Formats: sequence, structure tokens, C-alpha cells
Amino acid sequence: MTRPTIDEETIAGVADVLRSGWLTSGPQVKTLEAKLSEYCGGRPVRVFNSGTCTMEIALRIAGVGPGHEVITTPLSWVATSNVVLEVGARPVFVDIDPVTRNLDLDRVEAAITPATRAIIPVDLAGLPVDRDRLYAIAKKHRLRVVEDAAQSFGSTWKGKRIGASGDFVSFSFHPNKNVTTIEGGALVVNDEREAVLAEQYRLQGVVKSGYDGMEVELVGGKFNLTDVAARVGLGQLPHLDEFNAKRRELARAYFELFAAPAVRALGLQLPVADFIQSNWHMFQVVLPEQRLTLKRADVMAQLHAAGIGTGVHYPAIHRFALYRRLGWKDGDFPLAEYTCRNILTLPLFPAMTRADVVRVVDTLAAILSAHRQS
Ligand SMILES: Cc1ncc(COP(=O)(O)O)c(C=O)c1O
Repeated sequence: MTRPTIDEETIAGVADVLRSGWLTSGPQVKTLEAKLSEYCGGRPVRVFNSGTCTMEIALRIAGVGPGHEVITTPLSWVATSNVVLEVGARPVFVDIDPVTRNLDLDRVEAAITPATRAIIPVDLAGLPVDRDRLYAIAKKHRLRVVEDAAQSFGSTWKGKRIGASGDFVSFSFHPNKNVTTIEGGALVVNDEREAVLAEQYRLQGVVKSGYDGMEVELVGGKFNLTDVAARVGLGQLPHLDEFNAKRRELARAYFELFAAPAVRALGLQLPVADFIQSNWHMFQVVLPEQRLTLKRADVMAQLHAAGIGTGVHYPAIHRFALYRRLGWKDGDFPLAEYTCRNILTLPLFPAMTRADVVRVVDTLAAILSAHRQS
């Protein structure tokens, strides 16, 4: 379904780091942070070993904890809401807009209570949530925003890069993302005070001074990125635009092929055709449940048998056992539930060719045609 592209220069660079004698956070991490900050219009950026701890740390910096509520979407990787539980707060899910598949901003204000402290919007598949409306709501209700931009590194909103404005912005560099550090993430913060806190939460709360000074004032974790991983990221960044251009081209090919009358008649729901702002992190279709005699798992198995990998991004969070125990139930967010039950991520990565896209669409169309409700 996806595959990272790592060039030889990066592989050689990693070998140099391995020979350098400095493996954990060091000069490569500093350089990566500087490059990411430059990319984000000069805002302070710190890197971490995941795009999960970044959000947890942002919530801690914002002072979100027990007794507080955080509004988010049920259609995301479970990390998005697990971090809310991790800091002792309660996620408040709001149903999705089935067209964008992102949090429905029309429903957010009704979910705000005196306990609400923050909103975590998710740019699913790289399609940005409307930042103007989001920040208008946040400003009106004095809420912090932790943008879960795990999937939208390289996306833009009205010509501005995601990360270059807003409140906290969290990126993931997991290998399935548009650029990778193997595992890793970055957090864009607002000022030096927040950057210092981010560093403390990243590594045991430690603040060093001089040769032998050390202080610990808060409970931090162990979330630092290694220099080996940072070097991978440094080798990836120069390719971001080229990778995303290729993703856009492949996404266009998907749209073109899905528009053929016989394929269109199958009734698949396609993503929003945004070739300006989205980084096309994923190409996801929603299967026409009512028109098929087979289940999504069977479609995936048949595609797999044809050598085509697919994925489910994601099951609805509130239906996981942990969340059921906390009180959520089926039917709470019907639009997200329908989409989550039928969504299918098709292969999309820079090393693919148009012929690969043709094969995916032809194979999927053949499977669906053979299993239509009569
Ligand atoms: C929407 C979303 N949020 C959060 C994460 C967490 O990122 P990581 O896997 O780097 O912890 C991911 C990545 O898988 C994601 O896709």
C-alpha cells in the first residue's frame, strides 16, 4: 500500500552518523529542527520519537489534564484520542463531514462545554481542515488547538504551509508518511517558553546548565529522536516537493480512471479532488456497502491475492473496547461509523507508476462488478 523512498545519499549519510561516535540526539537532531523551523516560517520546532508524544506534550504544555475535555474526530488513528486520555482528560468526539472525512466544524460549537480546553483536528489523508473556521471557533471560545497534522506535512491552507501558522502543530514521520525518520515526529510551538517546556517533557524534565548544572522541575518522558533517525529525515526533506508532486499525479490518475463510466457506475465514494492544498498522503475510497454482496475484508483479500496491498484508515475510535468501556456506543457518530466501515486505502506512494494505478483500478472494478447486488 505504501513504501518509503530512501536515496543512496541518505543511506551513506546514515552510515556516516553510525561511524561518527554520536548516535543519540545530537547535531543531526539540531540540524533537522533548524530545517523544519525554516520550513515552518521560522516558528520553533522540536523533534521527538513519534507523532503521538508530540500531541501529548502539546496538551501538557497547554495545561490540559483531569477534569478537562478535548474535542476531536472519531475517524483517526487512535493516537489522536489516546493522548487525551494519557493526560487524564476526556475526549469529546464530534461526527465527521462525510465528504472531507474530517471533523465537521459545523458540529464543534455544540460540543463545547465549560470543561473544554482544546480541539484536536486531523487532516485525514492530508486534506486540510478549514483553518479559518477552526481558528475562529478556537478564538471565540478561547480554546487551544493541537493540529494533528501527522498526515499533512507538505499540505497547505490558502497558500500557507501547514505548520507555518496556527497554534500547536504535530507532524509524524512514521515510514508510511510522505517523509520519514523511520519513527519520529515534530511539534511546532508558539514561542521559546513552549519550546523549553517541550524539551523538558521530551527528556525526563531535565534542564542542564554549564558543565555540571542539572535541574528537574516536571515529570518528563523519554521521547527524544536519535541522530540516526534525524539523518534519515534530513535526507528526506529535499525530496518533499518532488514526492508530493508524484503523489498528486498518481491521485489525478486515480480520478481519471475512476471517472470511466463503467467504473463510476460501481458507486464508490471518492475523496475530495483537491490538487492544490492536499499532499495526497493517502487515496481512500468508500465502498458502496448496500450495493455489494461481499464485505470490505473480502475485497481486501482479493486485492491482496492479486498482489495489491490496501489498508483501513481507520476503524472508528469510539467503537474500540477501551472507548466502549468509557461510555461510547454504536450509533453515537453514524457518519463516521459508515465511513469507517467502508473506507479503503488504495496504494499510493512516489515509486508507483501510472500502470500500477491502472492495475489497482481495473482489479478493484473487476472484484466489485462480480459482487454487485442484483
Ligand atoms: C492521524 C494520525 N495521528 C497520529 C499519528 C501518530 O503518529 P506516530 O505513529 O508517529 O506516533 C498518526 C500516524 O500514524 C496519524 O496518522
